[in-house]
Amino acid sequence: MQHFIVIGNPISHSKSPQIHHAFAKHTGLAISYQRQFCPDDKDSFVAVVQAFFHGGGVGANVTLPFKEIAYQLCVDTGNLSDEAACAKAVNTLAIKDGKLYGDNTDGRGLVADLIGQGVSLASSDVAIVGAGGATRGAILPLLKAGARLTIYNRTLTKAQSLATDFDALSKHPLSIKTLDELMRAKHDVIINATSATTHGQHLNLGNCQANFAYDMMYGKPSAFLAHFAAQNAKICDGYGMLIHQAAYAFELWTNQVITTDCLSQLKTA
Ligand code: ATR
Repeated sequence: MQHFIVIGNPISHSKSPQIHHAFAKHTGLAISYQRQFCPDDKDSFVAVVQAFFHGGGVGANVTLPFKEIAYQLCVDTGNLSDEAACAKAVNTLAIKDGKLYGDNTDGRGLVADLIGQGVSLASSDVAIVGAGGATRGAILPLLKAGARLTIYNRTLTKAQSLATDFDALSKHPLSIKTLDELMRAKHDVIINATSATTHGQHLNLGNCQANFAYDMMYGKPSAFLAHFAAQNAKICDGYGMLIHQAAYAFELWTNQVITTDCLSQLKTA
C-alpha cells in the first residue's frame, strides 16, 4: 500500500482523494490518499511534511495556503522542477534521490485541459486576466505550448514584475495591459486567473471578445464564462485542470500513465 496526502487549510472540501483513488483503481495500484489539515504556519507545515515522508509516505499534494511555503522548503532543503521554480509555488511533493522534490503541475494541467478541449495553443494569441499565483503557475507551460501571451491586471505594476521574471524564457515578450483595455480586447483564448469570483466580485468585461474562454474556477456559476457564452464562444471551467494536474502528480509518484479514457470519465463524473 502506497500512502499519499493532500495538505491544506481548509481541506475538507478537497476532491483530490476521490480523483487519486480513481487513478489507483484504473492502474491497479493499492493506495491510500488522505486529506491532511495543517495549522496555517510554516513550522506546522514543515513538521507535517517531515513526519509524512519519514513515515514512508510516497507523495503529497499541497494546496492553499501552503504552495509558497512548500516552494521555499524545496529551495532550502531539496530540488524543484522548472515549472515549480518559475511558479515559485509547489503543489506536488515527492522524494527524489533521497531529497524533497517539488513540482507544480497546475499549469501543465491547464494546458492539457485546453488541448483536450480542442484549443490549439501553438502561435495562438492567449490572454490571461490576473497576475497572482494562478497566473504565475500557468505562464511557463503556456509558453512551452507556443502561446503568445497578454496579461491583463488591475494592478499594472504586479503584472509588469511578473512579466519581467519570464522575459528571458519567452520568444515573444509578454504584453501587459490594463483592465480598461480588456473591455475592448479580442483574443483567440482568454483565461480568468483572478480571484474576483472568490471575493464575490465581477470583472467588467465591456465588449471583450474571444473564441474560447476558460475560467480556472469551477463549481460556481461564472459571470466571466457567461459573458463569452453570450457571444457563442466555446467556454470551459477549471474542473478539467484539477483532474489533469492530479494526473501529472500521480504519474510523477507512480510512473503510471493515466489514459485519456480515465481522464474523460472523471471529467464528466
Ligand atoms: P491566486 O494565487 O489565486 O492567483 P492572488 O495571488 O491573490 O491569488 O491573485 C489574485 C489575482 O486576482 C490578482 O491579480 C488580483 O489583482 P491585483 O493584482 O490587482 O490584486 C486579481 N483580482 C482579485 N479580485 C479582483 C477584482 N475584483 N477585479 C480584478 N482583479 C481582481
